[in-house]
Amino acid sequence: MCYAIPAKLVAINDHAGVVDYFGETRNILLDPTEDNVKVGDYVYAQGGILVRKIPTEEAEEILKSWREVFFELKKTDEALAKVDQDKLPPNVLSILQKINLRKSLKKEEMLALFDGINEPNELKVLYEVANSVRQREHGNASCVHGIIEFSNYCHNSCHYCGIRCERDIPRYRMTPDEILAIAKNAVDKYGFKAIVLQSAEDFYYDEKTLINIVKEVKRLGVLVFISIGDRSKETYENLYKAGAKAALIRFETSNEKIFRTLRPNTQLQDRIDLIKHIKNIGYVLATGFIIGFPSETNSDIVNNILLTRYLGPDMYSFGPLIPSHGTPLENAASPTKDHVLKTIALSRFVDSNANILVTSALETLDKNAKREALLAGANSMMINITPENYKKLYTIYDNRSQTDETCEKSIKDTVDLLYSLGRAPTDIGKIP
Ligand code: 5AD
Repeated sequence: MCYAIPAKLVAINDHAGVVDYFGETRNILLDPTEDNVKVGDYVYAQGGILVRKIPTEEAEEILKSWREVFFELKKTDEALAKVDQDKLPPNVLSILQKINLRKSLKKEEMLALFDGINEPNELKVLYEVANSVRQREHGNASCVHGIIEFSNYCHNSCHYCGIRCERDIPRYRMTPDEILAIAKNAVDKYGFKAIVLQSAEDFYYDEKTLINIVKEVKRLGVLVFISIGDRSKETYENLYKAGAKAALIRFETSNEKIFRTLRPNTQLQDRIDLIKHIKNIGYVLATGFIIGFPSETNSDIVNNILLTRYLGPDMYSFGPLIPSHGTPLENAASPTKDHVLKTIALSRFVDSNANILVTSALETLDKNAKREALLAGANSMMINITPENYKKLYTIYDNRSQTDETCEKSIKDTVDLLYSLGRAPTDIGKIP
């Protein structure tokens, strides 16, 4: 995991580099054909990839102001990552002991934790253990990517989604220039180092247009993260060559029957094949599912976690179902907050090194859940930097969090929350 502060390159070996943040080292990937860097240079890295070189003087200035804050934040994070294991039944303790010993859990053990831990004092311990694993693996680094939702036109008809094609709602598409202007503002004004370009499944943007958008955004010196759903494998390959190095694409559910019912004209196996291909191309992969579809069982949720792990992602992205009016699932119930927090904790147990996102769906379910999720194993967030006039039209579900607030407020709230927990945002390099 990379911080949003300048890193010093301390070793280079062809495509691999080692960077240093105040004495902590991380491995990163370089592109020797593009990255004109040498040992001793300062760089920004994101998601394990070098994104930009920084002039030495500028880097040293930034690091000077960060030094004290960096170590203060770490102390707070460490103090919050303590576990009180006395309050658990012996069978649960033995499973958690395996986690502490870095042994992998069997599906039955995951299910035993999911089904068996429901009392508040037991849940508290479960989340504490997950938080301590998060702290052990990631220290206080927390990704905070900026996300631009550039189109809400969709050719799909997913039963749960508020922007499915059948819905008669106001639609918008940003022009490539608008997208670029928003990205540039996010980089120049707020210091974002990674930008997620998300849209509904909208073929209006053909491959050539997407390639141009990616190239322009990459030129800002950021990690370009795409989230555009079902496209051909060739398109994903060509977008990678154009400079998109991370991709977010969920499989939605591992339950074949639920998938078939809720996503007409699409196949689970096709989706999985595409995700595997995206991973093989070399993308930093974010994938995951929705929690709480009707008829879903705890066993399905555990299968969702295991399928995510099998796909080898760098980032887990899952959130609760939030009903959207005007869709076939408008009267469905959302899962409880603890269902989602347990899913976060179990994901942390089975994939200790992964990034786990707190999604806006969880925030929508419960305002305080963001903090609780960060203390239950999660370590990543996305800030919506879509301009308000468009953001309010990206109605994938009702009452979406962050919709009525300015992007400045979302950034401030997120950064304040992270600092209160001793976490350092890894891609907005701002001083508290
Ligand atoms: N509740 C929660 N998440 C939803 N998504 C779409 N509709 C809903 C809903 N009603 C999620 C899907 C999609 C992502 C962009 O939003 O998982 O991949």
